[in-house]
Amino acid sequence: MFAMTESVSADLYDVLFPATGSPFPARLLERTRFDRWAGFPSGRAALAYALRDAGLGPDDEVLTPSYSDLSVDRVVESVATPIHVDVGTGYTMDLDRAEERITDRTRAIVPTHLFGEPCDMERVAELAAEHDLAVIEDAAHALGAMHVNGAIGEYSDYCLFSFRFTKEATIYKGGLLLGADPARMAPPQSDLRTVAALCGVAVGETAMRSLPGPVYSALRSTVLDPYFRTSAGFLDDVTPRRFTDRQHAMLAAQFRELSSAVETRRRHAERYRRGLVDAIERPPAAEDHAYFRYPIQVPRSRREPMANALQRRGIGCSKSYSYVLGPPGECPNAYRASGRVINLPIHARLDAEQVERVIGTVNEVWAGFD
Ligand SMILES: Cc1ncc(COP(=O)(O)O)c(C=O)c1O
Repeated sequence: MFAMTESVSADLYDVLFPATGSPFPARLLERTRFDRWAGFPSGRAALAYALRDAGLGPDDEVLTPSYSDLSVDRVVESVATPIHVDVGTGYTMDLDRAEERITDRTRAIVPTHLFGEPCDMERVAELAAEHDLAVIEDAAHALGAMHVNGAIGEYSDYCLFSFRFTKEATIYKGGLLLGADPARMAPPQSDLRTVAALCGVAVGETAMRSLPGPVYSALRSTVLDPYFRTSAGFLDDVTPRRFTDRQHAMLAAQFRELSSAVETRRRHAERYRRGLVDAIERPPAAEDHAYFRYPIQVPRSRREPMANALQRRGIGCSKSYSYVLGPPGECPNAYRASGRVINLPIHARLDAEQVERVIGTVNEVWAGFD
């Protein structure tokens, strides 16, 4: 047993969220039904732990998103057999497709609230109950949405958060796993690849994607995959650990601002929704979202020049994600998004004027292509 044997009421409050005067820790605790938690060096380590803890092995199938961070896929792959499910009209798993992919080997589902867009967890819970699946909720992008919207992990067996530097609350790198069933808690096995190796895969993959398709495929199967599969020596990184005092303080300070940050980002998203020209595809306008990377879609041929033009004009944007995790033919929506997404800045520290500037610039750049 690891740190997950500690009780939430004592430890989450006192250790992870020391006296801050903020309503956030108390409200977090009120909303969680979990009685186990653990800190990790990263969200991916937390995911690896959860998969192991749920008793999954290589023959077990895990329904996992076809559109998400590469690290998620690599972790699932290192423990079990990922079954990639397409996204629906937005950026979360299409749960009808998920149901179609269930076989008698399916043991778990990893719903992800991508970019802060909530996945329909009630439906996930129905599927899980019907088919006896463990639910490992990837809330790496959704701390704010879950905090503001309601119950945390209400429908899952495990719920993980990431505190990486790209996330809503950060301690540079870190992860948190909440879990509900003490009977399932067990030490992680020793054949997981390292977090460092997983990062290496991501960097290598990104670099190699600029190569022509056949060269990329050959290099990936002969060099990258075998290398990272066998470099599984260092396991310290996937074990639970306590956060330092400084990390507690950093998290507490960021959590204090979380509610207002989500409100501000929702206002920014609403401005984008109304202000961008109609031809630019916006994400579904779910009221309970907390987009923290605002994903628009433009035609494939325009994405690269448009992102470059925006960057030249001082608009920091990214193209997350430009890959599909499953076979593209089986995941048409993910494939479509992977060639079309541009993430606009939506940080809570942007003021209204800056958001208007982003809108004006995006519309102008778009018009320049017509
Ligand atoms: C959706 C999602 N889940 C999980 C992770 C893993 O979190 P971490 O980067 O903290 O390992 C990431 C990556 O950043 C992510 O984007």
